[in-house]
Amino acid sequence: MSAIEYIVGLSGLVASALFIYGLKDMSSPTTAVRGIVAAGWGMVCVVAVCFLEIFNVSEEARPHLPVNIGLAVLALLLGGWWAGRKGRTVAMTAMPQMVALFNAMGGGAAAAVAAVAFLKHESSVPLPLGVTALGGLIGCMSFSGSIIAWAKLDGRMNKPLRFSGQQAFNALVFAATLLLAGLTVCSQLEPAPVYGPFAVLFFIGALAFGICMTVPIGGADMPVVISLYNAFTGLAVGLDGYVMSNPALMVAGMIVGSAGTLLTVLMAKAMNRSLSNVLFSNFGATSTQAKGPEGEMKSVGPDDAATSMRYASSVIIIPGYGLAVAQAQQKLYEFVKQLQAAGVDVKFAIHPVAGRMPGHMNVLLAEAGVPYDMIYDMEDINDSFASTDVALIIGANDVVNPSARTDKTSPIYGMPILNADQARQVYVIKRGQGTGYSGVENPLFFLKNTAMVYGDAQAVLSKMVETLKGLGSN
Ligand code: TAP
Repeated sequence: MSAIEYIVGLSGLVASALFIYGLKDMSSPTTAVRGIVAAGWGMVCVVAVCFLEIFNVSEEARPHLPVNIGLAVLALLLGGWWAGRKGRTVAMTAMPQMVALFNAMGGGAAAAVAAVAFLKHESSVPLPLGVTALGGLIGCMSFSGSIIAWAKLDGRMNKPLRFSGQQAFNALVFAATLLLAGLTVCSQLEPAPVYGPFAVLFFIGALAFGICMTVPIGGADMPVVISLYNAFTGLAVGLDGYVMSNPALMVAGMIVGSAGTLLTVLMAKAMNRSLSNVLFSNFGATSTQAKGPEGEMKSVGPDDAATSMRYASSVIIIPGYGLAVAQAQQKLYEFVKQLQAAGVDVKFAIHPVAGRMPGHMNVLLAEAGVPYDMIYDMEDINDSFASTDVALIIGANDVVNPSARTDKTSPIYGMPILNADQARQVYVIKRGQGTGYSGVENPLFFLKNTAMVYGDAQAVLSKMVETLKGLGSN
């Protein structure tokens, strides 16, 4: 074993350990930043070691070295600059789009590696060729599918594209792509390898299948779809690692693949939906609820609601997607500090799928400086609502919809929810009568102990802060 091979192997081991350590730290908000930095150093380590391959190139490849190194450095500078800039400036509500774009890059890179392996005819044995084809297929699907997911989340493709016989058509595209993959592999086998035509058609087919699979899915289901493509990208990268005998790539791919799969399953479970239901049904577009809830919604002004909370002894706050839209987290924390100064016990209750991406609310509250010990997961706080004076719901809807417990006809039936309805008094801040992500009415808003506080969360919370200032500390 040469010294370079030894260093490359060792760097793979070090990077893998850093990735796993980083992932473990990312599971808690208090250690997440340290985890991200550790995983980042793992990535720097493997990227830097790639340049040692310079000393391993064959004689005939040596003349291409300056151009290839130049291209690699240019790609690193451009990618690093763009990702760094985006990472610093992206709005919290636009985070899912950014993840979709980054995921597309990963899938595209995995597909490009497979394409190069085919073009260079790096193998003449069926197994690595088959693995290359699988990596190419999954990488292309993740690339084109993630681009469509990005366009939908970014509001550039507003309507799901559906037509009759679509699933049969998609199955046909998939079957044709698999056939082309088989032909590509066979055409490259010795003794008469052919490079090109089948491989090109195969990659076009795989890209087309990613598009076909994603266009019928509604924009609201995209976070789950992105997580699924993330798992696919990991798998494609892992397969590439196998073809290139690169252990770091294999480990990184497996970590991303398994983390993405777990996340997809967790998200689907927290919504009480199967993955096939996400991929093949039109969630929220048509409600099966026979009729809406009966009764009337009462409304109160922000000052009345704020005064009542000021004199309560306990308040649980439930943030939702609307808080992120309004970017009202700072105002909310200002209000919370005023309540605490008046001796009110305040806690935050976080539903696992509140908002539009995993951990959305935790990140939002952390951004405002809310201490972690005030933030409770659903299972840790759900029993406390019954003994709480006020539940304050801000821009949340589905995650507090009691019909998930009782109405078997509801699309969200079975989804675990926060028991806000059990509090003595419920205040709901939202702009109007709009439904949540699932498109169904929320009977909680019609209960006797619920009062709506209409308005944009930022504006309502600003008024509440002013009201408490006026009341002083008496
Ligand atoms: P939603 O059910 O989407 O409800 C958000 C509410 O916020 C809406 O009813 C809207 O009512 C209100 N709102 C919007 N803008 C507002 C603003 N500027 N000020 C005040 N209110 C505003 O949100 P949720 O309760 O957080 O539930 C999340 C949903 O997303 C769940 O159904 C979940 O399954 C789904 N989902 C989540 C994820 C993840 S991982 N988090 C992934 C996929 C899907 P108005 O229009 O009347 O204001």
